[in-house]
Amino acid sequence: MDINIRQSSAGKCRSGCIVVTMDTRRRFSLSGKEIDKLTRGQLTRLARRGDISGKLAATTVILDLSRVSTDRVIVVGSGENNRNSDKEFRKMAAAVAETLIKTGARDAVSYISQDAEIEDRDLYWCCRQEIEVLRDKLFKVEHLQVESGRHAGKLKRYSIGVGNKEDVPATKRAVHDGVAISNGTDLARGLGNLPPNICTPTFLAKTAKQLFHSDKRIKIKVLGETEMRRLGMGSMLSVSQGSRQPAKLIIFEYFGGTKSAKPVVLVGKGVTFDSGGISLKPGGAMDEMKFDMCGAASVFGTIRAVSDLDLEKNIIGVVPATENLPDGNATKPGDVVTSMSGQTIEILNTDAEGRLILCDAITYSERYEPNTIIDIATLTGACVVALGSHAIGLFSNNDDLSQDLVAAGKYSGDRAWPMPIWEDYQEQLRSNFADMANVGGRDAGAITAACFLARFARKQKWAHLDIAGAAWHSGAKKGATGRPVKLLTQYLLNLI
Ligand code: BES
Ligand code: MN
Ligand code: ZN
Repeated sequence: MDINIRQSSAGKCRSGCIVVTMDTRRRFSLSGKEIDKLTRGQLTRLARRGDISGKLAATTVILDLSRVSTDRVIVVGSGENNRNSDKEFRKMAAAVAETLIKTGARDAVSYISQDAEIEDRDLYWCCRQEIEVLRDKLFKVEHLQVESGRHAGKLKRYSIGVGNKEDVPATKRAVHDGVAISNGTDLARGLGNLPPNICTPTFLAKTAKQLFHSDKRIKIKVLGETEMRRLGMGSMLSVSQGSRQPAKLIIFEYFGGTKSAKPVVLVGKGVTFDSGGISLKPGGAMDEMKFDMCGAASVFGTIRAVSDLDLEKNIIGVVPATENLPDGNATKPGDVVTSMSGQTIEILNTDAEGRLILCDAITYSERYEPNTIIDIATLTGACVVALGSHAIGLFSNNDDLSQDLVAAGKYSGDRAWPMPIWEDYQEQLRSNFADMANVGGRDAGAITAACFLARFARKQKWAHLDIAGAAWHSGAKKGATGRPVKLLTQYLLNLI
């Protein structure tokens, strides 16, 4: 899909389809008025007759209007008036994308961003959202393909219409950024959807190398189990030892900033299948544990976006990739292991494996002397109970970082919400046989998981995103969402 800008007012625009808005009091947007005028009031008459709805996100396709140089007009409802919330705008953009894909139009020019008045948001935001929403709708699950194909019907080109010359630079920037962020989101979704017999730790490592070999600013390193053993990553290896697939530590080094600038490190949980290990999960919906590498996928996707954005920052991705399976060599409840940090862990439940691989990956990240470490993980079912799928669980030992992530989530529509990691909760991780247990009992499960990780990030400015509820949809819409690529990329953009 070609996405670009069209510098032209709606009235003068030659196109397969033009998109304008109207509210419930039959008031057209600026661009709608232009079309209405050219047609000598045809749109107004249709609206009066009740053939065009102004209800929020209702769409009406009107064919072959006279005296205009467009084959179709889509009118999308803006609700009570033209001043919408960010959520309402996204809903309108989604309805436009869905309607447009069903028409026969090969190209379309949309004026919804130019005509929108969104609370606290500017033209750049509107255009970017419009593109990101469109691309999300275009994404099609293409089995066994990493960079997934897109389903667009006949539509080949989508343009953001710009009437005023002054608006061109912001719109161009929005198109560029929106496409980059969508490329990253699509990559994360595609990887997340892959079946676990294809998407193994080895596959992820190979894919990382393939995806980024042409970008000179990116270096990919892959450590095998021998190297991890040499580093003392006993916690990570205790998870992989029950699997026939060798574990990998995949490292992305993106140097877009100055040599001396301290990097942001993104650590993504890459459990390519989580059976629970000896603490075996129940069988129902166990297939969904192929999505247990969505934290890793979001690191891949964010690196993709950052590379496409040419972001002037140093960013490191660290992905501990492994399966969690039960076999004769698997870790048993009661086993005690030594992490790379030297702290010992009594593994009481082998299904709490995410924290066991992340703790060593966090310790490994220290070598980059990071400015900030953010880990991303489908870590706990308890987080789904606490926040559902709307908000990502956000845990941090630094209030500024926490606020920055909340703000980036709000702006991008990929929201996170803060949860406490008070010392009080640490007691739940007490063990009689090691420095800590890997589980803290039934209460506050998402928090005790974060508190476990906090013990390995004491010296760091660190945040943990529990994406267990956000990373994929279950049921009929089963599939990865690509979250939180948008949140992370926005956070990084805001650092510039
Ligand atoms: N990957 C799961 C978390 C998960 C479960 C995410 C369901 C999404 C849906 C994780 O490895 C896990 O199994 N966590 C356990 C922790 C428990 C044993 C303390 C959980 O949440 O049950
Ligand atoms: Mn588990
Ligand atoms: Zn897991």
